Amino acid sequence: MGSLSCLSRCLSWKRIMAVFFLPLALSGLIPHIQYGEYMLSKTGRPQSRYNWSHLTPLKLKNRSVGLGIANTGGKAAHFTLEGHKFLIFGGSIHYFRVPREYWRDRLLKLKACGFNTLTTYIPWNLHEPERGKFDFSGNLDLEAFVLMAAEIGLWVILRPGPYICSEIDLGGLPSWLLQNPNLQLRTTNKDFVRAVDTYFNHLIPRMVPLQYHQGGPVIAVQVENEYGSFNKDKSYMAYLKEALLERGIVELLLTSDSEDKVVNGSIQGELAAVNLRFLRKNSFLQLRQLQSNKPILIMEYWIGWFDRWGYRHSVTHVKEVEHTVSAFIKYELSFNAYMFHGGTNFGFMNGASYIQKHVGVVTSYDYDAVLTEAGDYTEKYFKLRHLFGSVSAKPLPSSPHLTPKTVYPAVRPSLYLPLWDALQYLDEAVKSVIPINMENLPINNGSGQSFGFILYETSICSGGILYAEAHDVAQVFVNNIIIGFLSDKVQKMRIPKFKGCQLLRILVENQGRISYSWRIQEEKKGLVGSVSINGISLKNFTIYPLEMKKSFFERLRFATWKPGPESYLGPAFYKGILKAGSSPVDTFLSLPGWNCGFVFVNGHNLGRYWKIGPQESLYLPGVWLHPEDNEIILFEKIRRGLSIRSRGKPKLKLF
Ligand code: GLA
Repeated sequence: MGSLSCLSRCLSWKRIMAVFFLPLALSGLIPHIQYGEYMLSKTGRPQSRYNWSHLTPLKLKNRSVGLGIANTGGKAAHFTLEGHKFLIFGGSIHYFRVPREYWRDRLLKLKACGFNTLTTYIPWNLHEPERGKFDFSGNLDLEAFVLMAAEIGLWVILRPGPYICSEIDLGGLPSWLLQNPNLQLRTTNKDFVRAVDTYFNHLIPRMVPLQYHQGGPVIAVQVENEYGSFNKDKSYMAYLKEALLERGIVELLLTSDSEDKVVNGSIQGELAAVNLRFLRKNSFLQLRQLQSNKPILIMEYWIGWFDRWGYRHSVTHVKEVEHTVSAFIKYELSFNAYMFHGGTNFGFMNGASYIQKHVGVVTSYDYDAVLTEAGDYTEKYFKLRHLFGSVSAKPLPSSPHLTPKTVYPAVRPSLYLPLWDALQYLDEAVKSVIPINMENLPINNGSGQSFGFILYETSICSGGILYAEAHDVAQVFVNNIIIGFLSDKVQKMRIPKFKGCQLLRILVENQGRISYSWRIQEEKKGLVGSVSINGISLKNFTIYPLEMKKSFFERLRFATWKPGPESYLGPAFYKGILKAGSSPVDTFLSLPGWNCGFVFVNGHNLGRYWKIGPQESLYLPGVWLHPEDNEIILFEKIRRGLSIRSRGKPKLKLF
């Protein structure tokens, strides 16, 4: 989000009204304001302090009713849990964005802040990285995460998609779906349905025993995500509902949409919830039209926002959050803070937006949330804890200790390996007459390449105007010499004259697939379509999928790394040792002088760095460090810097 747009957004009269006057309106000073004709509690105060201490997953043994709705005839409807009046105070934490070793810490902080419910998306693309190959282990162990939440005393709402948005690559849909030109995402198209059914056959049986009625903490399940904004197929939501029911989901189902799309996204008979940042007069207008007899649930209260490369860091002020949450509490509105703790888009997880061009989401998913990216407390945490504490009959649990951070000695990578020398260590190279985009490469058991970089090589015997459609950005080389750049917006460049026949190399970086809008259907990466010079198509390519998997780095150990030069232009790997002492803790890495690339520590991909900001450091969780020596490998696309610095705090660029 750009600085100016943020400024104008923050200063627009609607915002000022929303932030400063609506709370006044709510508090009764302007008595006749209604939310889309929902008359909120007249007194403007919760009737009592809530005592839900017996209503926690481990304590509540009698499980006959679950999350229900009481329509009290005339008065506002409210949720009940096992018959007791209940408000959902939810917070989002995504297990896949937080190192597993820190799940407990983050969940304890959610509970200690006063929340009673955890919400999480479930990302299909990470759980089924190759068609038919499922992964629910390690950091993707959804069941362990949910059971840990239960043990800590939190209820859970699951959001299994299959599309989730969430600023993740392709909104959580696996990129191999894009191979099939007849498959239409987010519809009842038979090929899409077949893929969803197979995934659900693996996922849903894992969710079923976690449900409330089976003694677990899951009180509700969300169907898809903001389908009202996409809404291409009227039968799709009904199909998904049925897909959940027939596999044994029995808890309350809900849909979740922005204020003006609630009706479009809803399923007849199921609870519709709303996503918003500000309480406005019309916030609940559509909800009211649809279900005046049901309680309000704000499924995503945007307590912060995400960042994109090259755009100003987003900030949502604590005062605004305090005002809005006070209103939620005062008027007994159930809500879910998106995000309580955002975590990190480790590896190649990040998605992208389209703002006249492709713009990648940054590695950090700090989100200006209640906890920071590294799990530290913010002012929002203390304000919310105070608000929840003021309506809780029992004292809130004490807040866990801070997670230590430290500064390690700088690392000067002493060895380097130009990309060209590393190619022989790849799993495989593909020979093809024409260039092939990532998703359609015949690798990974037919599932193609999802993430990373891809290099195309072919021989050319003349210069001229090169035409290629590269997604998202590409460096063009003749042999080892860089001669220009291409992107989704720049498809032509001149190749100067040269003698004889030479090697044309095009290195394309996938910067994350768009996660929102109809564009998801078109998100193929690498070179898409033919490549030509002066209108004549080039042929006979060797294609190197640079997926940067652990196995590749293991093989790179046997490469002949060279002592690092003071400066090098071009894509290369750089290796150094981070000395972490006897008990490593969290730190942040900053990369002065480096341009753009990825950092791998002991084989963990920390994500993309890019000098354009706003993110200027990468979070390195202490749990991924070994005592003493740790291997750091950088893949830098353009220009080397001299050192990698460690910091105690993240660094942001101020635009
Ligand atoms: C929407 C989506 C979320 C997320 C937020 C923005 O509400 O439902 O997945 O993308 O926007 O962070």
